[in-house]
Amino acid sequence: MSNASPSLLVTGASGHLGRRVVELLLEFHRGPLIVTTREPAKLADLAARGVIVRKADFDDTASLDAAFAGAQRLLLISTDSLDVPGRRITQHQNAVDAARRAGVRHIVYTSLTRPEPDSPVTIAKDHWATEQALEKSGLGFTVLRNNFYADLLLLSLPRAVATGQLVAATGTGSTAYVTREDCARIAAAALLAPFDGKRTLEVTGPSAVSHEELARMVSELSGRPVRYVAVDAASLRAGMVEHGLPAPIAEVIASFDVAVAEGRMAKTSTAFSDLTGGAPSSVASFLARHREALQAATR
Ligand SMILES: NC(=O)c1ccc[n+]([C@@H]2O[C@H](COP(=O)([O-])OP(=O)(O)OC[C@H]3O[C@@H](n4cnc5c(N)ncnc54)[C@H](OP(=O)(O)O)[C@@H]3O)[C@@H](O)[C@H]2O)c1
Repeated sequence: MSNASPSLLVTGASGHLGRRVVELLLEFHRGPLIVTTREPAKLADLAARGVIVRKADFDDTASLDAAFAGAQRLLLISTDSLDVPGRRITQHQNAVDAARRAGVRHIVYTSLTRPEPDSPVTIAKDHWATEQALEKSGLGFTVLRNNFYADLLLLSLPRAVATGQLVAATGTGSTAYVTREDCARIAAAALLAPFDGKRTLEVTGPSAVSHEELARMVSELSGRPVRYVAVDAASLRAGMVEHGLPAPIAEVIASFDVAVAEGRMAKTSTAFSDLTGGAPSSVASFLARHREALQAATR
């Protein structure tokens, strides 16, 4: 790599993760910064701050050549297109192919913990296929296998606080939850790093936490008794659908619980501190920062 700062590109820049990565890059990156989105109007504020905003839709291959032109290192944020099974595989393959055509040297990709073909997680195959596409592309890559976002606990724990029951199908398994903020920090660090090879990193918090421990934490933080109620995956799925969750989403969530019960989400790694030089947030400190949100369903 030359001494000049490379051109960096972030896809999905209007999403939660992408926005935060861009803010971090604006703080630390001195070279050109390109961001892409399906709706450039959403990023007018970034354009006003000197960021190059372009339209890119992974469903529209023709949009990608112009969108990726001139980028040297590219953060490919996995999309949220879970409506049609396998749709993301085509989307991500389109993005990898376009990056290669555009002369991108290194792709940073947001994958998932242990996405191998034996994963029970329904959406793991999208990530596995994308990792394979990166291997075959001949490009350098950093695969960031992000563990479960701690932020997603804020969708389930308020109800647990309100009902006194934390229902899950994780058995006695633990999860090395990582905050989305830390996923943004490591993604920014991986883009900025002078690393041109190929690596696959597990991105985790500092320790793995079981649902038993989560129940204890929220009891203490909320001052209301919460106990863990262990159910099997089929009951969990049925209960979620009964409460109005669309069946495909309930299926994805239940499949994550199976992965946790099988011990697949528990391993911690030092990738976060290795790349960023900082310490990742623990679940306890994350929940303490969001104590108010835990009480939301009790009011
Ligand atoms: N590890 C975990 O626990 C966990 C949890 C949730 C999500 N995730 C994954 O991490 C990703 C980022 O998380 P997030 O919280 O930032 O999600 P988010 O806010 O829902 O953002 C999703 C992003 O996907 C992009 N996207 C959707 N369709 C696209 C298309 N056809 N072409 C190009 N980009 C497209 C969107 O970009 P534009 O709207 O700007 O085009 C958006 O920025 C998610 O998409 C998902 O794959 C992981």
